[in-house]
Amino acid sequence: MPCDFGKTELSLADFQEADLPGILAIERASFRHPWSAEAFRAEARNPIARIRVLRHASGRVLGYVVFRLYEQAVHLLNIAVDPACRRRGLGRRLLQEVVREARRHGLPWVVLEVRVSNEPAQRLYEAFGFRRVQRLPAYYGDEDAWLYLYEVPPAEP
Ligand SMILES: CC(C)(COP(=O)(O)OP(=O)(O)OC[C@H]1O[C@@H](n2cnc3c(N)ncnc32)[C@H](O)[C@@H]1OP(=O)(O)O)[C@@H](O)C(=O)NCCC(=O)NCCS
Repeated sequence: MPCDFGKTELSLADFQEADLPGILAIERASFRHPWSAEAFRAEARNPIARIRVLRHASGRVLGYVVFRLYEQAVHLLNIAVDPACRRRGLGRRLLQEVVREARRHGLPWVVLEVRVSNEPAQRLYEAFGFRRVQRLPAYYGDEDAWLYLYEVPPAEP
């Protein structure tokens, strides 16, 4: 499906059950080991987890991010954008939302793991300001991960 939209037609909101078909279609198009519907529902029920969904005014899901709020850091668990809508700043917008939430909870760090083969995601994180801090051998069983860290800057005065 084409992806021509204006900024005013986009909204970012909490996950709803009606988002699942759109989310799962993006999952399957994005990952070798996509999350199941139950994995998303479990995070939606988890009191320390958040799922933010980027929707078009038509209701179509364009992207989403899943993260957990721990004592010292936000842990980003999943992020994806509809393949037809990539390179339009939506991934960056989802990361901005994660940072906004970290700041709101006074958390100084955002951490995440990414497959060493996943160059697009690494480019996004580095362009955003994440630092690669450690290689995690066999983190995904079949592949190593890079651990990335982002230091949440203080809010603008
Ligand atoms: C990673 C992902 C979320 C990026 O989403 P996106 O909406 O395309 O990202 P943005 O348009 O906000 O990109 C912001 C910047 O990141 C960098 N970037 C993002 N994708 C890139 C790519 N494929 N190649 C090079 N740089 C890239 C660029 O610097 C880009 O800025 P620019 O377009 O002005 O050059 C998307 O590629 C995706 O859904 N991938 C599959 C799922 C996935 O791998 N998730 C991460 C799991 S850890």
